[in-house]
Amino acid sequence: MKVNGTPMRPIWEADGEAGERVRIIDQTRLPFAFETATLASEADTAVAIRDMLVRGAPLIGATAAYGVALAMREDASDANLSAAYDRLHATRPTAINLRWALDDMRARLAPVAPSGRADAAFARAREIVEEDVEINRRIGAHGLELLKEIAGRKGRVNVLTHCNAGWLATCDWGTATSPVYQAHDAGIDVHVWVDETRPRNQGGHLTAWELHNHGVPHTVIVDNAGGHLMQHGEVDICFTGTDRTTATGDVCNKIGTYLKALAAKDNGVPFYVCLPSPTIDWTVRDGVREIPIEERSAAEVTDLTVLVDGEVTKGRAVSPGSPAANPAFDVTPARLVTGLVTERGIAAASESGLRGLFPEMAA
Ligand code: MRU
Repeated sequence: MKVNGTPMRPIWEADGEAGERVRIIDQTRLPFAFETATLASEADTAVAIRDMLVRGAPLIGATAAYGVALAMREDASDANLSAAYDRLHATRPTAINLRWALDDMRARLAPVAPSGRADAAFARAREIVEEDVEINRRIGAHGLELLKEIAGRKGRVNVLTHCNAGWLATCDWGTATSPVYQAHDAGIDVHVWVDETRPRNQGGHLTAWELHNHGVPHTVIVDNAGGHLMQHGEVDICFTGTDRTTATGDVCNKIGTYLKALAAKDNGVPFYVCLPSPTIDWTVRDGVREIPIEERSAAEVTDLTVLVDGEVTKGRAVSPGSPAANPAFDVTPARLVTGLVTERGIAAASESGLRGLFPEMAA
């Protein structure tokens, strides 16, 4: 997608640096500053994931793949391949794309002689990026059909989204935003309600920034406003992303997604989740009980990052002395999900729905 008219991706290899270093957009600085960072080592990569310079399930996976490649430049031994897997896997617990990418890299690199591992690893990391871009383009094409149907009935389409499942969370297009961008580019009158997504404000900071840059009409709302808007017919459809979807169609996503799905169910608003197939954890059946939920720093709840007179600053937003808790994800049971929009089409949020689209996973 474009930043100030220039096509950009959230991760890339700059000219003259391919196979040696990786560039990223530093998402901790957005929307108040646009800065890039260089990942020159596996350790840089681990910090970028853990401290959320990069975030969003598909982008975490792609960054981890580059992390393995950088590790192989440093030391391509079997021991370091295994250690790099463990170190990168420990960075964030919930998004399954991290494990998916690390499993893929390890399986492909293990049979390669150490002398060829770094080049093979960079080549595979590039492929993972390109595959993700194509997957998200296809997700958008399937989701676009849903938006076209609503537009044909009533004109303007109001989409509600939570967190940032936009191009910044992936290698391009986004998942939940891909249908929106494709609809906007096709001339459909689409408007997005953007949940601000406390505590880190990925909606107000990142989704809003993306949509603004692309010229998509949007309005930022507080996280508690969605139910009210649905009651008043102001939301036609919800699109969210997911960090891990179970084999039975339960959806783990940014904290607050569950409450939005409950409100959507109560108001008859279709609730769709957009996901690339690497986000499906075929080993998990019960999302609520089996998916590890990341608990992040209480400071993310108590302290807000704001722009004051052109200066980015932090301010206390909670009564001093009160403790805070910060579970970063929740699980929306499959029964609340209208459909799963994947690169192969739209599946019912159920085991048979998913296996129908991905029959090769039946074993
Ligand atoms: O904690 P984050 O910012 O990594 O959480 C991201 C989300 O919850 C996204 O909505 C999810 O990864 C889907 S991304 C296409």
